[in-house]
Amino acid sequence: MVIRVLRSVSAAAVVGSLALSCCMTPTMGAQQAAPPTAPAPIDPAAYRFADKLLKQMTLEEKVGQMTQVALNSPDGPGVEDRIRKGLVGSLLFIKDPNEINRMQKIAMEESRLHIPLLIGFDVIHGYRTIYPVPLAMAASWEPETAEKAQRMAAREASSFGIRWAFAPMVDIARDPRWGRIMEGAGEDPYLGARMAEAQVRGFQGKDLSDPDTLLACVKHFAGYGGAVGGRDYDSANLSDDQLYNVYLKPYQAAVNAGAGSLMSAYMDLNSVPATGNKWLLHDVLRDQWKFPGFVVSDWESVKSLTTHGFTADDHDAAVRAVNAGVAMEMTSHTYREQLPSAVQKGEVSIATIDGAVREILVAKYRLGLFKNPYADLQRNAAETLSEEQRAATRHAATRTAVLLRNEGKLLPMKQAPRTLAVIGPLADAQADTMGSWSLAGHPEDTITVLQGLKKRFPTSEIRSTKGVEIWRDQRSIFDDQFPDPKPTLTTEEAKKAEFDRAIEMVRNSDMTVLVLGEAQTMSGERASRASLTLPGKQQELLEAAVATGKPVVLVLMNGRPLDITWASQHVPAILDVWYPGTEGGNAVADLLSGDANPGGKLPITWPRSVGQVPLYYADNLTQIASEPNTRYWDSSSAPLYPFGFGLSYSSFAVSNVHAASETLRMGQPLQVSVDVQNTSDTAGDDVVQLYVHQRAGSASRPVRELKAFQRISLKPHESRTVTLTLQPNELTYWSASSRSWVTEPGTYDVWTGDSVKADLHTTFTLVR
Ligand code: BGC
Repeated sequence: MVIRVLRSVSAAAVVGSLALSCCMTPTMGAQQAAPPTAPAPIDPAAYRFADKLLKQMTLEEKVGQMTQVALNSPDGPGVEDRIRKGLVGSLLFIKDPNEINRMQKIAMEESRLHIPLLIGFDVIHGYRTIYPVPLAMAASWEPETAEKAQRMAAREASSFGIRWAFAPMVDIARDPRWGRIMEGAGEDPYLGARMAEAQVRGFQGKDLSDPDTLLACVKHFAGYGGAVGGRDYDSANLSDDQLYNVYLKPYQAAVNAGAGSLMSAYMDLNSVPATGNKWLLHDVLRDQWKFPGFVVSDWESVKSLTTHGFTADDHDAAVRAVNAGVAMEMTSHTYREQLPSAVQKGEVSIATIDGAVREILVAKYRLGLFKNPYADLQRNAAETLSEEQRAATRHAATRTAVLLRNEGKLLPMKQAPRTLAVIGPLADAQADTMGSWSLAGHPEDTITVLQGLKKRFPTSEIRSTKGVEIWRDQRSIFDDQFPDPKPTLTTEEAKKAEFDRAIEMVRNSDMTVLVLGEAQTMSGERASRASLTLPGKQQELLEAAVATGKPVVLVLMNGRPLDITWASQHVPAILDVWYPGTEGGNAVADLLSGDANPGGKLPITWPRSVGQVPLYYADNLTQIASEPNTRYWDSSSAPLYPFGFGLSYSSFAVSNVHAASETLRMGQPLQVSVDVQNTSDTAGDDVVQLYVHQRAGSASRPVRELKAFQRISLKPHESRTVTLTLQPNELTYWSASSRSWVTEPGTYDVWTGDSVKADLHTTFTLVR
């Protein structure tokens, strides 16, 4: 069983006896309808089934359905008895399929109403087979890659009896100090929305009642990525312009794709904690978006409402969370302890309780759990870490890598080097190669870069050593499962000897692959940083390796952009593989050898230094337009690498942009075509990107906004005309001046190319 560091709710500041019954003032005043889209309705049979069951339930049983117990919390032991009494609706952090079946059997056979448990888990990027982290998946610019990865993860996890994934995480993140930037799709709402939908489709499959699906849980609603200073769990202060036009976009896309559940966020949004934020959970989610699923809190985030200074005590917290729209409480116990009396006192209506329970029962019904909630052990044996799973994650890892530099075409290695040095703290690091949130992954299943290269180049003489060690002093949230290996080099002499040994290896080898970056505990939850430098003495190692004059390839493993400004000028080849997962080392070998050609693009603007953050491309141009990159006197304000950027072993020419019409009527799509040619002898992929700018409007509009893209594969010297469609709703935005959704007539710029720097330009005029 996973042992997870328990989050304790700090001594709650009890703020008087503010017995606010439910709804605080909405965060925003305006209540306009969102662009008119909505999820498909749920089969009425599910509601009929739930309603019938509801009529038979006691209040305690209803609150039981609204309670999720974490088996690695103090609440875990003895949970069987509460399941038997019908007092538990869901479990998390239970991994053994036999254990899951045992718990389900108690629920199905020994509880009065035979209601199955919903077993949840953080299936973020794989279960036992680990796929590249979500930020990497976004770098594929290929929603199919994300969909396939989550489909495979769903197949594997469901074979263990898990039917609910706490994913996708769709929080927009524009500050790489925030550790959780790794769990999402980066900075852009359009790319984020496409990745969100794809993952929902992957998890939930064609029919949720198929036994190999997972109910998606889109998180963390909403604005968590806006944490002040990139500090995890800190408040987010986001204007309605930012919320509606940026942060909420991927959520609505996921809801429209049919996501069955949502998780409320930890932090407060404009001073109203997300878990008690009625505006967010009700007005936006239900009234505007027509979300038919249910909302679960984050870990103890109901109880934490008191820590925020929002609620007075547990009772107040339970009342206000449920009245705001949180149907299920994760881990803390305020619902089960407080809701029955709150109903008796009239602070929570029975209709509210019934509404929440109904949504939860509907989800269980849709998953087919009432018919069969059990793990299929045969399928489990066949699916777990199968060849098909390994092949799928290896393929995904080749699609997600981004080639940042390749001077003198150092890569790919055309032939096996006679001698190869594979150096760095991450060169042979199994747990780190998986990345954070690999809670059911086994480090020993993982192929490291060293192993992958040895296999790929069996005739080369391959030497390896760490050179330097990296570790995190402060405990990480997953320390009990993946404790950071403590440094073995404890004296200055030992450290120097190891460093020198590594540089000697570089000097004596034809080629060196340096694998640097962050250990898995250095990014993810509770893993924010105040700097973006390569941790430890990795920079020194890199500089000394380059100083030997031998060819050096830098392979980066990271959950966030790191400060590689020096490397970007001095290291001839840089390949960012993020955290590539179980088959990471084989995928890196595929890429370095040229068996696969990197085609990923950055899903995030790459800053030069931490002082530039937050830095993102879709800002507004203000004052002195001619000098947008000189906003600091001591640094360029331009990024090191722009959004959408990535090289390939091929080269491409993009030309001849053509908009199907110069005048566009509102509500009509616009086809924009562009010619792409592979101008090299190597087959490869390019990502054609379309950006739009509205020249004038009721509010300032960003300099560019991504509105369509397509990843294409071209044979050597092949040319293709790619047609991208600008969907009419992509021109609609929330105007902070009219406080409504608007689509405004006028002139629009269009750029196409293969990064945000795209310079092929055309315009169109939008008319009513
Ligand atoms: C995280 C969630 C996660 C939950 C359960 C929380 O701390 O914020 O993303 O799903 O724990 O592990």
